[in-house]
Amino acid sequence: MGSARIVVIGTGYVGLTTGACLAGLGHQVTCVDVDEKKVARLAAGQVDILEPGLEELVSRGLSAGRLNFVVGAGAAVANAEAVFLCVPTPMGAGGAADLRAVEAVIDEICGVLPAGCAVITKSTVPVGTAQRIRAMLGRVDVPVVANPEFLREGTAVADFLNPDRIVVGSDEEQAARWVADLYTDLAAPNVITDAASAELVKYAANCFLAMKLSYVNAIAELCERLGADIMSVTEGMGYDRRIGRSFLKPGPGWGGSCLPKDTHALVQVAESVGFDFSLLSAAIGENIAQRDRIVAKIAGAVGGTLAGSRIGVLGLAFKAGTNDLRDSPALSVTAMLAAHGAEVTAYDPAVGGELPGMRIVDDPYQVAKGADAIVVLTEWDEFRRIDWSYLADLMQGDSIVDTRNLLDPQVVLAAGLTWLGLGRPRARVLAR
Ligand code: UDX
Repeated sequence: MGSARIVVIGTGYVGLTTGACLAGLGHQVTCVDVDEKKVARLAAGQVDILEPGLEELVSRGLSAGRLNFVVGAGAAVANAEAVFLCVPTPMGAGGAADLRAVEAVIDEICGVLPAGCAVITKSTVPVGTAQRIRAMLGRVDVPVVANPEFLREGTAVADFLNPDRIVVGSDEEQAARWVADLYTDLAAPNVITDAASAELVKYAANCFLAMKLSYVNAIAELCERLGADIMSVTEGMGYDRRIGRSFLKPGPGWGGSCLPKDTHALVQVAESVGFDFSLLSAAIGENIAQRDRIVAKIAGAVGGTLAGSRIGVLGLAFKAGTNDLRDSPALSVTAMLAAHGAEVTAYDPAVGGELPGMRIVDDPYQVAKGADAIVVLTEWDEFRRIDWSYLADLMQGDSIVDTRNLLDPQVVLAAGLTWLGLGRPRARVLAR
């Protein structure tokens, strides 16, 4: 396919990455947002989110004249061949996805869309949304297509440009094929299907990942109780090609803008058609239990009582490589620590400013000053390079609780500190 005229509505993680990458593939892209200030910043090449390669791609698109940013969807779509909907679909009441932003956009563009222009959902939307959009549009001349994204924060650009697969679904097959052709330069298998199946692929994949993580966190807990080592257990599991090695790292629970929202939404969708998805509900429950176990572990590290203790926190983002705090397990854990009466001081390489219930400082050593225990909650690589002996001198206590199994226990122990990981018995760690 040659260059298509594309409008991307919404300039969050998904929209901005989609717009900038489609422009990079040679399409003519207009990105739309309701936030005038944001649009002005983007038009000047300023990207607020931490996403490797994105700012560069935006600048290149702007200077090549293939990417522009505007306010107001109505005017932007008048000449479009494809409109990507990338507006937020947050968790609404009862866990179901809140589609008000999608509905508002449809309302705005409905009368302006040229005949034949494909309306494409990119944000994760409940199964049946494409059909609902069709009904809202009431236009037989406008095909509706579901084309879910599988972008991870922190590697969104790389994920877009090197996808595992491209999933496109529509009840009009020709439209689905046309949308798949927009990505023709990317070497990836295409799954062309109906709209409902494409919509379900996204939920089924994300919820599977969430279940995998809950499972591994539960296995780590079992390791602790049985005296086994999660590192060896996951290594042994990972060689099985049916399981794979990724998404096997235990942690303080899964978070971020997608997995929590999508798991709740799928439970809700299942319920709406009379199916009790207890397997998935259990994974959500396990994720809450994991945070409780982490807090109990930290309490144990300071002698059993958090009240009055000083806890230093390393990492606040929901995972390394991002400054995103949405549904971050680190924030839940720090909030629980504060609620139990601990005094929390935190450092994250990508998070500054002020947050309730804690004092944010500029480096790990300030976190250590007078701390009874230090807890690693996000797996930032720079924490591996901390001078643990210097840090040990600054601390009041001697416990390092490593909820990501990030650090080399031997290095921490050599500094005279105690290392507590997840699912790793002390004897095994010492034996290494
Ligand atoms: C996720 C999906 O991976 C992506 O395909 C989808 O489009 C959006 O949602 P993201 O939210 O960026 O991406 O985060 P991801 O890398 O999947 O991590 C999710 C959570 O799981 C994080 O809290 C992370 O720390 C945790 N995690 C991940 C682990 O605890 N262990 C692992 O081995 C992997």
